Amino acid sequence: MPKKQPAPPIPKELPPCDGPKLNLFEHHDCEIEWIERIGWEEGMGTPNEGYVFRVKINQVEYALKVFKFHNPIESQWSWGTRIGNVPLHTVTYYRDPFYNECRAYGRIREPLKGKRKLSDVAIPCHGFLFLSDRDQQYLEDNGYDLWSSIIDNSFQEKTIEGFRIRAIVKDLASSEPGITGDNLGKVFNRIVAMNQHRIVNCDIRLDNFRDGKIVDFGSSFTSPHIIMDSLKPSDADFHQAWDRMLFDEMVVDEQIPNPKRVLALHPMTLRPRFVGGQPVKY
Ligand SMILES: Nc1ncnc2c1ncn2[C@@H]1O[C@H](COP(=O)(O)OP(=O)(O)O)[C@@H](O)[C@H]1O
Ligand SMILES: [Mg+2]
Repeated sequence: MPKKQPAPPIPKELPPCDGPKLNLFEHHDCEIEWIERIGWEEGMGTPNEGYVFRVKINQVEYALKVFKFHNPIESQWSWGTRIGNVPLHTVTYYRDPFYNECRAYGRIREPLKGKRKLSDVAIPCHGFLFLSDRDQQYLEDNGYDLWSSIIDNSFQEKTIEGFRIRAIVKDLASSEPGITGDNLGKVFNRIVAMNQHRIVNCDIRLDNFRDGKIVDFGSSFTSPHIIMDSLKPSDADFHQAWDRMLFDEMVVDEQIPNPKRVLALHPMTLRPRFVGGQPVKY
């Protein structure tokens, strides 16, 4: 662990830039009881973004997603030519999986102004927290690698979090994705509502659903967004359709029964898919 500087106060909301923000979790300073790691099986390897745990805080069980730090230089290929002279720390607020989740959940938790409701889109989120030294030590002692090799210490120490590990508190869902032939239309409508609220999840797949709702916004783009909003119109249309394309692919790849023939995009728009070596008819 890098040498400690006195930690600045914990912000009340994040990220400190334009657009939606996520609140600090109400019980952020309560003790965390670590129960087990979830969403993981033997042989999956070390995750890039972080770990999810079943925890108990203030007598209530939650899912706690603990994030590794992000080095914006690693994703420069995706933003380098688009955003001009934006400081690297600001780039992080739009590319780091932790901040992607803060922004998306910030939007989901915003009061709605007459638009379709968003509460059913995602497993509810309660806010972010920074791990205490004790919890950080506990995870390190139990073999969780929180210091990804891409981290740049001189960059990281000047961030708003410094070297404090960030985590997001969510309702604990079941272990089932919960997408069936019966609720496929409903799940699709939720994705459309999410896109109408200018969140593009960019990672629609079965593993990122629990109980028919999205649990993972680590790859999402939520407008206003310095990269998404700088796309030229044809690229922006393509980007906006991304979730619907992934939805159709998920239905095919996971062989989800589709008795009502829910289809998000016109078949001509979709990439060719093969199941059991045979081309799929959408
Ligand atoms: N709130 C939750 N309730 C139950 N299981 C969850 C929850 N959040 C995540 N998981 C499980 O943990 C896995 C990894 O979480 P996810 O947020 O998708 O992280 P990653 O960025 O590593 O893909 C999910 O695929 C799911 O199985
Ligand atoms: Mg995931």
